[in-house]
Amino acid sequence: MIVARAPGRVNLIGDHTDHTGGFVLPMAIDRATAITGEATDEPVIRLTSDAQDGTVAVPLPVADPGVVGPSWGRYVAAVAAALGREAGFAGHVTSTVPVGAGLSSSAALLVATGLAFGADPADRVTLARLAQSAERSAVGVPCGIMDPLASVAGREGHALLIDTARAEATPVPVPDDVDVVVVHSGEARSLAGSPYAERRARCETAAGLVGSLREASLGEVAAITDPVVRAAGRHVVTENARVRQAATALADGAIDEVGRLMVESHRSLRDDLEVSTPALDRLVDRLVATPGVFGARLTGAGFGGCVVALARPGALREGWVVRPSDGASVSPAG
Ligand code: GLA
Repeated sequence: MIVARAPGRVNLIGDHTDHTGGFVLPMAIDRATAITGEATDEPVIRLTSDAQDGTVAVPLPVADPGVVGPSWGRYVAAVAAALGREAGFAGHVTSTVPVGAGLSSSAALLVATGLAFGADPADRVTLARLAQSAERSAVGVPCGIMDPLASVAGREGHALLIDTARAEATPVPVPDDVDVVVVHSGEARSLAGSPYAERRARCETAAGLVGSLREASLGEVAAITDPVVRAAGRHVVTENARVRQAATALADGAIDEVGRLMVESHRSLRDDLEVSTPALDRLVDRLVATPGVFGARLTGAGFGGCVVALARPGALREGWVVRPSDGASVSPAG
């Protein structure tokens, strides 16, 4: 029997920077998706789920993952297609990662599926890239590497400073005396059907105009003529700088500073990239005004979903306190 497990993630800071090879600071969380099952002789993948409706029965080899139903089966089918899987599999999916919250339930399912289907857990970047490309073929969302790489590379007690251009993750300790709290805005969202691809295109257009948003100065970005593209470029350049400052501050235990950068990040996502919503803005304002809260911001793509806050232990009595956790695993290994 194979047990493959992959955590969700929360991003502390650095959103919409992974489209253009920028920096992000997520952490794998203590909520995960697990697949328990075994190979079968019948050329079909059969999965049931505690977390999602319906039973998946995908004949192998997979022809078009995008038409599989129920919809969560598309992720499973896309991973099977990417791995060229021909052997059947029967199993069950359990998950404690809420769907539609911005905690990367899809990346957790994709990574767990990859491991259940035999991807090498030691080759983290290949596994993360497999999950990234499977998400694209499953639901057509041009997502970046952040979510699967955070799920694969997580380390207990640490966030991950990820250089998305190099797919390198550097663990950064998260102090014990800080709560990382995830609070849902009440607006569910799915990336498919959201303006995610359009915002990504804004960032890529800005990057194309200045050469590289990693290297560009604010002055170079200010010379972009189109105001919408200029603002997107400004978001990415300032967000990349904030991520690196936040990683240093976190490692130094300067949580006030991390919180300040988170609030700036939220404003930039709201005003320059226009991915926030009134409900997310109200929630951030309310959390930041709560005694003991260092900072808060929308986390992930935006357009609804969750806010992440850093707070003194116990200061927030809502949402989920999440702990930085180890990345994905499979047993028996290999
Ligand atoms: C989603 C994508 C990520 C990233 C974030 C925004 O979570 O899957 O690749 O682009 O949005 O930072």
